[in-house]
Amino acid sequence: MVTLIVLFAALIILILALAFSKSTSKVMSSNTKPVANLGKDELLSCYLPTQVQQRLSDVSVTWEKKGLKVYQYENGAPALQGQASEFRGRAQLFSDAVATGNASLLLQSVRSSDEGEYTCSISSSAGRGKVNIQLRVAVYSAATFRFSNGTLTAEASRWFPKPNVTWMHQTGIVLNATTNLTTSSAGIFSIISTLNADQSSDTYSCRIENNLVTAIAEATITGADVSGGTYFAFSVASTLFASVYLNTMTSLLCTYYTT
Ligand SMILES: *[C@@H]1O[C@H](CO)[C@@H](O)[C@H](O)[C@H]1NC(C)=O
Ligand SMILES: *[C@@H]1O[C@H](CO)[C@@H](O)[C@H](O)[C@H]1NC(C)=O
Repeated sequence: MVTLIVLFAALIILILALAFSKSTSKVMSSNTKPVANLGKDELLSCYLPTQVQQRLSDVSVTWEKKGLKVYQYENGAPALQGQASEFRGRAQLFSDAVATGNASLLLQSVRSSDEGEYTCSISSSAGRGKVNIQLRVAVYSAATFRFSNGTLTAEASRWFPKPNVTWMHQTGIVLNATTNLTTSSAGIFSIISTLNADQSSDTYSCRIENNLVTAIAEATITGADVSGGTYFAFSVASTLFASVYLNTMTSLLCTYYTT
């Protein structure tokens, strides 16, 4: 009986210890699966939710990618000795934000080789912990519209992986369109899609989509004019297919960037 009670007590202590150790790892990210746009800057979100302003010298931040040092902040200053060469001059923290527990990393002019898993670790008087972020890289651009002689044309110049294009009338009816995809020597897709739109006042949406990015571009025709806007949504599923597909294109994308 006594043994049983001791066993139970031990079990409860173990459960409490596990729960406690979990709650001390408070580091979070507003997006653990971001999709960066090749050549553009990407913010990798990482923070320790805290109400109190801490002394900078009490906060240390480490960003790593598979054992490579991406960035480090310690004793109130960047500590960049040993930083992997591919991140030199391209990674930065927001030093004003670090004192409030915000260790988000700005990665500049993203390359396809930046794809992969990053670990952000924060240690401060307010707590400690780490979070993993899976960065994926795609190529995407907004659509622009033209309207003449009853033909509405959408153009988007940079897409990868290969997208699908579908059109819809504002009533929700799917419309037939003619879409031409051309590839640059680097394998980047350029889209020209045309639709018969004989109404002089109407709204259409053109959806450009691949496994990582969905762009919804809306065109409103008023008389001879057309106005439009594009918004983007990103896949949250980290599919093996996506990363395999992009990796096979890595060398091509690098060529694109160096030419
Ligand atoms: C952290 O700082 C960045 C850069 O100023 C900002 O965009 C982001 O919203 C901040 N995140 C939090 C959780 O405060
Ligand atoms: C779209 O094209 C298909 C096949 O070419 C045809 O059957 C259908 O009627 C067309 N729809 C419209 C709305 O034109």
